[in-house]
Amino acid sequence: MTDHSSDAPEDPAPAGQAMWGGRFSGKPAELMQAINVSIGFDRRLASQDLAGSRAHAAMLRKQAIISSEDAAAILGGLDTIGREIEAGSFPFREEFEDIHMNVEARLRELIGPAAGRLHTARSRNDQIALDFRMWVREACDRTGLQLNALQKALLAKAEAHAATLMPGFTHLQPAQPVTFGHHLMAYVEMFGRDAARFADARLRMNESPLGAAALAGSPFPIDRAMTAKALGFDRATANSLDSVADRDFALEALACATICAVHLSRLAEEIVIWMTPQFGFVALSDAFTTGSSIMPQKKNPDAAELVRAKAGRMLASFTQLVVVMKGLPLTYSKDMQEDKVPTFEAFDALELALGAMAGMVADLTANAARMASAAGAGFSTATDLADWLVRELGLPFRDAHHITGAAVKRCEALGCDLPGLPLAELQALEPRITAGVHDVLTPSASVASRTSYGGTAPDQVRAQIKRWKETLA
Ligand code: ARG
Repeated sequence: MTDHSSDAPEDPAPAGQAMWGGRFSGKPAELMQAINVSIGFDRRLASQDLAGSRAHAAMLRKQAIISSEDAAAILGGLDTIGREIEAGSFPFREEFEDIHMNVEARLRELIGPAAGRLHTARSRNDQIALDFRMWVREACDRTGLQLNALQKALLAKAEAHAATLMPGFTHLQPAQPVTFGHHLMAYVEMFGRDAARFADARLRMNESPLGAAALAGSPFPIDRAMTAKALGFDRATANSLDSVADRDFALEALACATICAVHLSRLAEEIVIWMTPQFGFVALSDAFTTGSSIMPQKKNPDAAELVRAKAGRMLASFTQLVVVMKGLPLTYSKDMQEDKVPTFEAFDALELALGAMAGMVADLTANAARMASAAGAGFSTATDLADWLVRELGLPFRDAHHITGAAVKRCEALGCDLPGLPLAELQALEPRITAGVHDVLTPSASVASRTSYGGTAPDQVRAQIKRWKETLA
């Protein structure tokens, strides 16, 4: 690198002309500018853009691609810009199109022509690939923390209700009694998988595209490993074309977000159902409900409903980006500028949804008496009777199933539940049945008997709570 002088003869980007305007003699049409401009949304990448520029400038200096003086001026200017952005005084200007050129233009105002050396061995193509990747990486990390917080809220509720009876459902029909704690722990598993999915996506995305330059790499002796390390990446990406063309990291994060939103929507739906007076299983405080402007008696689960609805947004964002990317030839195309809005929107919505759900879970109170009485309704211990016939009398399960079905029919005729069916009635169906059968027909006996690994017996539930507490500690 022979000439390090920063006293360039003239400003290559005078006011009113785009930074790339050297070969242009006319100005872009207003509509061209309107469709092209991205500063309105990519300003959210300001801190990532600055971090990338700092790492790049330090690397250019170490490799003697720019002088120490220019590097010092650039780094000082970038610090000033960082402070301006924090203070809210940074002038985001549409005429400079995007965040990259806004930062560079401001740098030029602050330090003069040396600013023009920052873009050596770099392109906006690897710059945006870097900035956006870092933003998505941070979003995944934030989401992981929120998922852990939600899991902890669920764990606390589950611990309080490890033995609280409730009906377990299939087809939304009473199936077998379970505990409320067990039910909540099912969501701890789901959100645990979500957190693992985000962490796994993060591993794959954690390669630095910086230094791919426009698409083909750089003739300057850049040190890509150095910038990758400085920016917290595991390594530099291995193919320059892929580096600027790839948006898998965002797609993967949006796919993770969509699955997570599906889990959130299922829990939200259950809260909505449980809160109906017909169920009356749980109540939310005034903090997470709203009233009706016409019906004074109402307490509506709006927060849960809105969480439920977010799944639609998440899938819309994923769909939007997947469709933008489909069929794009290598490498960068301006279509890819449309990657940011859906991704920002999805993660904003997910952040709200995770926060609201953690708040609702902590807030909700369970009506244990109501849940317990519902747990015994609908002949929910019929399987326990069939299992008893198999265990105690050695009947094949199919025969036991048939006898139990007849017992349920008898209950319906007599208007009683299974524990209330007189022994004589049972013996009319199978003479070898003894009084001991009644021990297994209550919901609490049913739940206590399900001691298989991962089952709903309170001791099993407590074991899982303990395991998760250790995992999340
Ligand atoms: N604003 C652009 C984007 O978000 C930055 C990259 C522009 N590159 C280009 N060659 N025009 O995608």
